Parts: sequence; structure tokens; C-alpha cells
Amino acid sequence: MWPRGGYPMEALEVSMDSEAKITPILIITCVLVATAGLMFGYDVGNSGGVTSMDDFLEKFFPSVFHRKLMYDNDNGSAYCLFNSETLQVFTSSLYLAGIIATFFASYTTRHLVRKLTMVVAGFFFISGVVLGAAAQNLGMLFTGRIFLGCGVGFANQAVPLFLSEVAPTKIRGGLNILFQLNVTVGILFANLVNYGAAKIHPWGWRLSLGSAGIPAFLLTIGALLVDDTPTSLVERGRIEEGKAVLKKLCGTDNIESELKEIMEATRVAQQVKRPFRELLQRHNRPPLVFAIFLQIFQQLTGINAILFYSPVLFISLGLGNDASLYSAVILGSVNVLSTLVSIYSVDRVGRRLLLLEAGVQMFISLVMITVVLHWHVIDNSEDLSHGTALFVVVMICTYIASFAWSWGPLGWLIPSETFQLETRSAGQSVTVCVNLLSTFSIAQASLSMLCHLQYGIFAFFSGWVVVMTVFVYFFLPETENVPIEEISEKVWKKHWFWKRFIDDDRIPKTSVTSA
Ligand code: BGC
Repeated sequence: MWPRGGYPMEALEVSMDSEAKITPILIITCVLVATAGLMFGYDVGNSGGVTSMDDFLEKFFPSVFHRKLMYDNDNGSAYCLFNSETLQVFTSSLYLAGIIATFFASYTTRHLVRKLTMVVAGFFFISGVVLGAAAQNLGMLFTGRIFLGCGVGFANQAVPLFLSEVAPTKIRGGLNILFQLNVTVGILFANLVNYGAAKIHPWGWRLSLGSAGIPAFLLTIGALLVDDTPTSLVERGRIEEGKAVLKKLCGTDNIESELKEIMEATRVAQQVKRPFRELLQRHNRPPLVFAIFLQIFQQLTGINAILFYSPVLFISLGLGNDASLYSAVILGSVNVLSTLVSIYSVDRVGRRLLLLEAGVQMFISLVMITVVLHWHVIDNSEDLSHGTALFVVVMICTYIASFAWSWGPLGWLIPSETFQLETRSAGQSVTVCVNLLSTFSIAQASLSMLCHLQYGIFAFFSGWVVVMTVFVYFFLPETENVPIEEISEKVWKKHWFWKRFIDDDRIPKTSVTSA
């Protein structure tokens, strides 16, 4: 789905704001955004908690369970507690399935109906939830997770496009980060459910996996209820239906100018027969580089390693089962609240300042954690003192706060506002794929890294934070308040490095309306 965070709410520059009101269909659309974001966030937040539940481990990952028992009895290495390939594959399989599904979804969104693609996503989610919650063996458990991944792939591609086509321009930017906000709410919801479910034996883990059914069900119902977008209808030649939906969306009969814009946008989009090939043209290099690098860097902050495994991490820090989930709830709340900071400040202080400030804050937090853990060698079950453990939790909170107002939303927002109209949806597919691929790789590697590097894992990520902050400083131009169709002229052409990719003779293709 999601993701989100920043999806290309501007994917088709069709403004519907002449007389547009906040109509019921728009509200349903917002519910859709919310549930798609919630669903993705729930999946991200859920696995760490479930994989630290004894009943779950005993049933599906007995070797990890026995290692944990030994650790509880003061034997064995804390950092390697959860180092199991099958456990890693369990977490990562969702992302791998999502990557593969994105390719199919990009085809279905282009050639079929957006609405249908979202319905497919909903059904994948529901099947995945049912299989996971009812799992009797590893086969069911993994199949369920793969279905959830397929849901993520389909929803991530369709929901943003759908939104971009129905949202009035004036609330499009807000919707963009709103999606990321919902991801963080989903993570928090998962942490809360895990906290309660961990106390229910022996089936608490089923409740935890099954609760994803709530956002999944809402998404499916929402997708079934809404009309397809006017653009999708017009594209398929159903002009009258498109007009009717447009009237509903705008809350007015006066939709002639919007209809013209949609027809024109559709005409322009249809002229580009091979958007992926167009994406590789030299003049598209700057946004393409940012779509790829911002997503890779977003994951190299280590956020998912810390979020996925925060319950596990806290057990490794000697905080005990209960305290660990409790801390995860705190981290989840910090994540949500700090995303609000981003919504408030992104158009006031700009993208660069947020990313640069966060780079410094994340670096300091990660280095402090490394130093503290270095002093207190906790391997072989020497627990951290209460005060030290608390300090580490506080540092993790300052780290998460800075991520949530910078790389979290901006990793999505910036690619979505730098692609030209003709390559925007292909650019979105690249963004989603690189996100899922990097998330997958980090999820796959983190538990082994925690086992082999121990607290050095924090130093590893702090090194990457330096690299990405330097990258932002030298290469990322400010895009705040620049209309999308003027990015070439006003941003790339003026940048010391990127200007060499923009050909002066090339008249930038403009979108139909201003951003
Ligand atoms: C990232 C996710 C991450 C989430 C955390 C998103 O922007 O893409 O990978 O889990 O932020 O809030």
C-alpha cells in the first residue's frame, strides 16, 4: 500500500478545486487512505511483537524458543536469541511477495479499473489474515504472510493513484503525509494489540495476527463501495459515467473545466507509450536517482530493524517480556506524534532543513546507544541497570522522533513531487519497489547483524546516517513551494550538479494544471 507515506497524490495533475467541497465520497476516500496506511503499518508493527511471544515461538520456531528458554535460565547470548533464518524469512516474505505483486498491480492499475485493483488488495489481505490467524503449521503461516505481501503490492500501487485522481489539489499535499501518519497509527495499533495479546495464553498470537482483519475488512468494504475514478472511467471511454462521478466528487454540476482537464491529462498520458523507457532518459535522471536513493537511505537509517525488532531488542537489553512490549508502545506513540510535527513543518521550514536536522539527531542518538552498550557488555546475560536501559529507550525515542519528521514521510513525498506527469506513475512503481526491496533486505539481515555485530548494529546505521546527510547537503535541492511542472526549470537547472542532465533545448512538458 503503502505506502505511502508520500504517494504520488499529484500523479495526474487534475485539479478539482474550482467549486469542490468536502463531499461524502471524499470522506470515504480518506477512510480508504487511512485503512490502506493502517494495514501496512499494522503489518510492519505486528511481526516483532508476535515473534517474541513464547506460545508462537514454541509452535512454529521451536529452536528459537529453546534458545530463549536457555537465555531466560541465564545461559546463551542475548544478541543471538532470535537469530533464525526461518524467522527472518517469515518477517521478510511479506516484502518479497509485495515486490512481485507490484509488477502485476502496475499492469492492472493501468489497464483495468483502479477500484478493482483495490478490491483485489482487500481480498489478499483478508485471506492472509485468516490463514495467519488460523495457522496450524508453517505452511499456512507463510502462505498467509505472502498473501498479506500481495495485498501490500496491490494497495500500494492503486490507492495512491486513486487518491491522486479524486483529491482536490488544495488538500493533496496534506493527504500525502496523512498516509504516512496512518502507517504510524497502524504500527502503534499493532504494538497495543501485541501488548494485550501477549498476556493471553496460548492463543494470544492468533488474536494479534487476526486483528489485522479490521483494517483489511474496512479497506475491502471501502473499495467495493466507492465509484471508480473519473480518470479511469474516461480512459475507458465511459465519459458519461465519468461526468456523473465527477459531479458527486466535486459536489457541483459545474464540472466542465475539470472534465476537460481529465480528458487532456488522459490524452497526454496516453501519448507516452513506454513510461519505463521514458524514465531512463537522461533528463529524468535526477528524479529517478532520488526515487531510488531516498528509499534506500530511508531503510539504511535502520528504522525497520529497530521497529520490527524493538520488542526483541528490549528483551535482548534485559528489559523482560512485558517491559519490552510496553516500550514498543512508547516508540509507536513517538512515531505518530512526530509525524504530526512533519505535517505541520514540511511546508514551513522545507524538506532540506528537516532532513539535515534529523541526520544530526539520529547520528547522536545512535552513537550514544552504541557507546552505552559498549560500556555495559550485556552478552552472557549481564543485564543493563535500570537507569541505563531507560537511557537507551530514551535515545531510541529521540532517534525515532527525528526519523518520523524527516526520512519517514519525505522519503515518499520528495519522489512524488519531482517526477514529470508523463513518468509519474512509472516513477511511483520504482519508488514502491525500491522501498519494499530495501525493507526486505534490511529485515532479512538485521537479526544476523544483531547477532554478529551486537550493539555495533547501531554504529553501522549511524555510519549510513552520515552518508545520507552528506548526500542531502550536496545533492538534494529544496522543492518546497515549487510547482511540479516547474521543477526542471526552477530546481534541476539551477542546481550545481543536476543542471548537466537538463538539456536547455528541451522544452519541459508541462502538466495540465499548476500544482
Ligand atoms: C517506511 C516504512 C517504515 C515506516 C515507519 C515508512 O516511511 O517506508 O518502512 O516502517 O515509515 O514509520
